Amino acid sequence: MILKDKTILIMGIRNKWSIAWGAAMSAYENGANVIFTFMGEDNRAKVEELISELPNAKAYECDVSSDEAIKNTFEEIKKTYGKIDGILHSIAHANTEDLRNNFINTSREGFSHAVEVSSYSFVAIAKIANELDMLAEDASLVSLTYHGSTKVLPGYNVMGVAKAALECSVRYLSENLGSKNVRVNAVSAGPIKTLSAKGIKDFGSILDVVEEKAPLKRNVTAKEVGDVVSFLFSNMANSITGQIIYADNGYNVMGI
Ligand SMILES: NC(=O)c1ccc[n+]([C@@H]2O[C@H](COP(=O)([O-])OP(=O)(O)OC[C@H]3O[C@@H](n4cnc5c(N)ncnc54)[C@H](O)[C@@H]3O)[C@@H](O)[C@H]2O)c1
Repeated sequence: MILKDKTILIMGIRNKWSIAWGAAMSAYENGANVIFTFMGEDNRAKVEELISELPNAKAYECDVSSDEAIKNTFEEIKKTYGKIDGILHSIAHANTEDLRNNFINTSREGFSHAVEVSSYSFVAIAKIANELDMLAEDASLVSLTYHGSTKVLPGYNVMGVAKAALECSVRYLSENLGSKNVRVNAVSAGPIKTLSAKGIKDFGSILDVVEEKAPLKRNVTAKEVGDVVSFLFSNMANSITGQIIYADNGYNVMGI
């Protein structure tokens, strides 16, 4: 029960395949109270049905491309729950055409959109949570990233650029929040079949290559990634900040 008595906010639940759901299951099993945010009022009924599996879990609608929406959501959460011990940012988006065409064809608007929603939103979340004084003394902020930030995976395209900005933001945020004893890290997950992943060209062949080449010869599950997130939320990871921790069955160490 490494998260006993901790309140964890999980941002980016869409359905039962979401990594956010794997993280929620892990946090819950480790003793946390779990709160969610999701995007789009249209998705409320489905999200509420899913999270009803967890006693007392509540979900708030929040579009992270708006500072005002983040602020309003966080104010409501603070009113109900007080200080938060951990936040998972499990959010990314790029325009479909930017994941279908060659990277060189990325539009100015598509580039800004991917970076704003997938990288800047993590900075905005940290900034607003800090300004509202809603982070507990030893809070832990975690985001999710992917190997495409440092290596070329044709089709990952502008999302790779956005993940590179996200990972660098993790390092700068860790320095800014370290004096408050708040830790900031990201988990670099191996590929998992989720709704977002479906948008990436030839995603199936990425899964096949990982299964064949990763040291552990298999793909990761959302729950396994969630377990690493839980570890980073826990006090067992008190000395870890500014890091990108790979949860990919070792695939990233392979040279061929
Ligand atoms: N699936 C993978 O292979 C994989 C691997 C490594 C990292 N990741 C990362 O994991 C995270 C979660 O993705 P997932 O694969 O679970 O897919 P998912 O589709 O289940 O989750 C993505 C979430 O982002 C949310 N979102 C998009 N735009 C938003 C906005 N403006 N405001 C608020 N929420 C918004 C969606 O509503 C959705 O809940 C993403 O950051 C993704 O890049 C995924």
